[in-house]
Amino acid sequence: MSVVISHLETIRAEAQLGGGESRIARQHAKGKRTARERVEALLDPGTFCEIGMFATHRATGFEMERAHPWGDGVVTGQGKIAGRPVYVFAQDFTVLGGSVGEAHGRKITRVMDLAYQNGVPLIGINDSGGARIQEGVDALAAYGDIFYRNVRASGVIPQISVILGPCAGGAVYSPAITDFVFMVEQQAHMFITGPEVIKAVTHEELDFESLGGAEVHSSRSGVAHFTAPDEEALLAQVRWLLSYLPPNNLTPPPAITPTDDPYRSTPELAEIVPANSQQPYDVRAVIETLVDDGEFLEVQSEYAQNLSVGFARLNGETIGIVANQADHLAGVLDINASDKGARFIRFCDAFHIPLVTLVDTPGFLPGTDQEHGGVIRHGAKMIYAYAEATVPKISLILRKAYGGAYIVMSSKHLGGDLNFAWPGAELAVMGPEGAVKIIYRKELATAAEPAARQAELTHSYREELANPFIAASRGYLDDVIAPAESRARLIMALESLREKRQSQPKRKHGNIPL
Ligand code: HXC
Repeated sequence: MSVVISHLETIRAEAQLGGGESRIARQHAKGKRTARERVEALLDPGTFCEIGMFATHRATGFEMERAHPWGDGVVTGQGKIAGRPVYVFAQDFTVLGGSVGEAHGRKITRVMDLAYQNGVPLIGINDSGGARIQEGVDALAAYGDIFYRNVRASGVIPQISVILGPCAGGAVYSPAITDFVFMVEQQAHMFITGPEVIKAVTHEELDFESLGGAEVHSSRSGVAHFTAPDEEALLAQVRWLLSYLPPNNLTPPPAITPTDDPYRSTPELAEIVPANSQQPYDVRAVIETLVDDGEFLEVQSEYAQNLSVGFARLNGETIGIVANQADHLAGVLDINASDKGARFIRFCDAFHIPLVTLVDTPGFLPGTDQEHGGVIRHGAKMIYAYAEATVPKISLILRKAYGGAYIVMSSKHLGGDLNFAWPGAELAVMGPEGAVKIIYRKELATAAEPAARQAELTHSYREELANPFIAASRGYLDDVIAPAESRARLIMALESLREKRQSQPKRKHGNIPL
């Protein structure tokens, strides 16, 4: 017996070494960890159970017969984060560059199947040269099998992609289908075609970082949701995100015992949000005042900053927040904000996370860039996402809710469950200044003192029409509340909606505008 056990230990030790000491040293020299070190750093200590350690490729040709490294360049298995199970795969760049061949792909699809079947989140750590060149179509088949499972598991289990090295070519499409993409700065790169191909085709000269680094994907393309300067900080963010999420679509999100008083008065909100609707402020300060312990995990914080979305808790329960950001483009809605908002709303809806919407927006951004870029179809996604969402939907209008944006931002008309506004809120087809210029054009043209008359008419328009009491009188708002009451009222609203059940019409699926 001792002989076979020592044989097992020998093979295990070989497998643990991945591509060998010199390649591990090369990985460390680049500031990167090995796949196993990453898995250990991500999971609760001592919880990782590896599966598939002894998988090897069976490729022939191109000298592939010479070596059959244990594990085939990917470490897979199960473990725990904050005591809750997850499945994980981590590509091992020290083995054949972490490239994806038949056996490697089968190991990934195995943990995907286990995660899907058992209703457990899946975390994929990517660090790979892409499709294994020596394995040809078997490598492509492996990717196809992964993509298929990503789509099947979408909305069933949370899927998280962590990019800690290269992720090139068609390989990027698996992370793109998953719910959240994390990228480490300087070290992670995602692109469909690399710098050399781009140079040959378009004559543009770019390096990996300027083409597909974390900064580009978090601020410009919107591909990445979270970034951090190093692996440690990035993996800590993955753990933080998971703390808000349920393991699957049939289980409610985890609630924690709250330490923050649910009925805490929030009078400081009246100071944070200036009464003058032209003045900016940071909506994150509003969110942090409202939620438990000021803890807000913003998603895509660098992208489409005119809309702030993210996770927080109210009285211990996870909520998704969608808030116009007055500090950036006055909180206007545009193409990118609509895409960002719609995907976040749909994630929350899929996983039973109630939506709290904070409204302060002048409407959609005017301009040919927006119109020709398809703001019509992009903006429509927000309407679609809110209207189809069956989770509790609560809105609070802080200041402006003009035009289409009034309807879009979780209004009663799109199925909002409880809709509130502060007393100074302005609800109208458009802002008072613009409205007066249109409806009183003739009068203003002939007025003795046009500026004074315009100010007078603007004042009376604001008083008579652009206030929340008309909407409340029609039942479009459920109440007008003071800033100080906001946290308590949101929590009471949430409690009253906790058992909400709403069914959708029976259909194969809808056809969301894209
Ligand atoms: C097989 C690969 C590989 C690959 C890297 N290696 N990529 N082996 N298939 N795709 C191997 C190298 O031969 C080397 O082996 C080791 O991994 C490390 O690679 P280096 O080049 O030394 O590392 P580095 O300088 O850090 O460069 C990393 C890299 C580069 C930028 C990723 O290796 C690279 O450009 N690789 C090819 C990328 C690519 O074009 N992949 C196909 C994309 S298309 P040794 O033995 O020396 O350690 C694709 C299609 C998917 O993925 C389709 C899905 C639908």
